[in-house]
Amino acid sequence: MQVAPSILSADFGNLARDVKEICDSGCNFVHVDVMDGHFVPNLTIGPVVVSAIAKAATKPLDIHLMVENNTFFVELFAPLKPAYISFHIEEEKHPHRLIQKIRSLGIKPAIVLNPNTIPEELEYLLADLDMVLLMSVNPGFGGQSFINTVLPKAKKLNEMRNRLNPNCLIEVDGGVSDKNIQALKDVGVDVVVAGSYVFKHQNKAQAIKSLQI
Ligand code: DX5
Ligand code: ZN
Repeated sequence: MQVAPSILSADFGNLARDVKEICDSGCNFVHVDVMDGHFVPNLTIGPVVVSAIAKAATKPLDIHLMVENNTFFVELFAPLKPAYISFHIEEEKHPHRLIQKIRSLGIKPAIVLNPNTIPEELEYLLADLDMVLLMSVNPGFGGQSFINTVLPKAKKLNEMRNRLNPNCLIEVDGGVSDKNIQALKDVGVDVVVAGSYVFKHQNKAQAIKSLQI
C-alpha cells in the first residue's frame, strides 16, 4: 500500500517544514487538494502555494482538483510537473478529452468518483487512465468519517481494472486510518490519502508506516 499524506491537514504557517517532514517520513506521494469554493464549499490553494509545496517536496505530487473548470486548472498546474492530476467525473462534460490533454502535458491522468458515483461510469475510460480515486468522504474537508460503501465499490472497480487495465491504480481518499487500512488492502486498493491521521499523529513516520501494509 502506498501513502499520500494530504497537506490540507498540514500547518500552513509552516508549510515547507511539514512537506519536508512527510517526505522524510517515507510517504510515497504528496496529496494536494485544490478547491475552488464552487464545486465544493471550501477554498484552498492555487499555483503560487502549490509551487512552494513542489519546491519543498522530495516526493511526487498528486494533485486532486475539486473545481468547476477543470481544463483551466489543469493548464494552471501543469507547469509544476505533478506526477498525477485527478479531476471529478461529476464536473466534466468531456472526460475522455481531458484525459488526453493531461497525458499530452506529460502528467498521469486520474479520475475521481464521489461517494455516490458508480464505478461503471469508467467502463470506456479505464483503459486510458493511470489511476482512479474513490472518495470515501464527501469532498471539501479533512477530518470526516470514512464512508464504508467505498469498500464494495473498490472491490467492483478492482475487477473492472483487472479486466480493462491492470496497470491502473486505485486510490482512496477520506477518513483513512489504521482502523480501515486492512479492509482497503483486502479489496485491492493500491494508494491511500491520509490527512488528519498522519498530521495528528505524534510520530508521522510511524503513522505512514502503519498504512504501508
Ligand atoms: C477531502 C480531501 C481529502 C482530505 C482527507 O475533500 O480530498 O484529501 O484532506 O483528509 P482526512 O484524511 O482527514 O479525511
Ligand atoms: Zn483529496
